[in-house]
Amino acid sequence: MILVSGGTGLIGSAVVRELLARGERVAVLGRDAARIRAAFADGVEAREGDVREPATLPPAMRGADIVINAVQFPNEPIENRRKRNTFEEVDLKGTRHQVDAAKDAGVRRFVYLSGVGASRDAEKHWFRYKWEAEKYLQDCGIEWVIVRPSWVYGPGDRSLNRLLQFAARLPFVPLFGDGEQEMQPVFIDDLARIVADAALRPEAANELFEVGGPEVLTMNEVIRAALEVKGMKRRILHQPVVIGKAIGTLAGLLPSPPLTADAIDFITGPATADDRRLREVLNPRLTPLREALATYL
Ligand SMILES: NC(=O)c1ccc[n+]([C@@H]2O[C@H](COP(=O)([O-])OP(=O)(O)OC[C@H]3O[C@@H](n4cnc5c(N)ncnc54)[C@H](OP(=O)(O)O)[C@@H]3O)[C@@H](O)[C@H]2O)c1
Repeated sequence: MILVSGGTGLIGSAVVRELLARGERVAVLGRDAARIRAAFADGVEAREGDVREPATLPPAMRGADIVINAVQFPNEPIENRRKRNTFEEVDLKGTRHQVDAAKDAGVRRFVYLSGVGASRDAEKHWFRYKWEAEKYLQDCGIEWVIVRPSWVYGPGDRSLNRLLQFAARLPFVPLFGDGEQEMQPVFIDDLARIVADAALRPEAANELFEVGGPEVLTMNEVIRAALEVKGMKRRILHQPVVIGKAIGTLAGLLPSPPLTADAIDFITGPATADDRRLREVLNPRLTPLREALATYL
């Protein structure tokens, strides 16, 4: 049985659907069993657990052969310390707790959804925590696979879809920064197949795959492509990052911040992948942006 932690999320739910289509037995770990049951009509076992609470994990891991960790806190990248929804609590400690529970439960392989940019010396704490979580997994003694996606888009994403919602209401698309940062957008269906391969294919054991789509594009080019596929004519209205960060700094003082200065850095950063190992080991088909957008926009 394969346990997908965060299986109701953007990436997790696509992975669950892919695994079910391949005939696998799947369980989903999340904080609310009813939400899991509502997301998947049949064929998926709901396992309630909170990755910040280690005591909740052993029952959730019982019987799992493979674990896929696709957990992320709500509203990421906007951290909420009061609710313990932070990169440290969920990405780092939440992964450590799951790895420990997986080891105790006799799990054979653990797949971790990290992200491009993860590094020991990264300037941003979210990348350092991802790297630390990766390291903990690599040293734990069970088979591991690390998948570091670039920027993910698809029907349920909260980034490109939000920009298109603005476009539907406004004569322009507001965007923080100059939009010239390089991205390698990866289609959710492609990523789901890659994660399923990472879980199931023997040659993926103990591999780290950076995953990007087939094109390196700027954020401006991604938005223009989406507007074109949608048949909308809108200009992109760039907002200075300093203004976003000033708003984020003030908003960040609220008990439940709607924005933070860090979140502005997060969304305006580049996201390209070194996908050589992915191509060598799994060699997936990667859908070009316009072709993928045309399937759902
Ligand atoms: N989306 C991207 O573009 C992207 C790019 C690179 C890397 N990644 C990485 O991929 C992973 C998945 O991202 P995503 O965008 O698919 O996330 P998401 O859509 O926000 O989904 C998060 C999932 O985690 C669950 N969750 C949240 N807090 C939890 C907790 N404390 N305990 C247990 N489950 C919890 C949520 O379910 P409940 O709320 O019901 O518990 C939900 O199923 C993350 O590690 C993210 O950093 C994402």
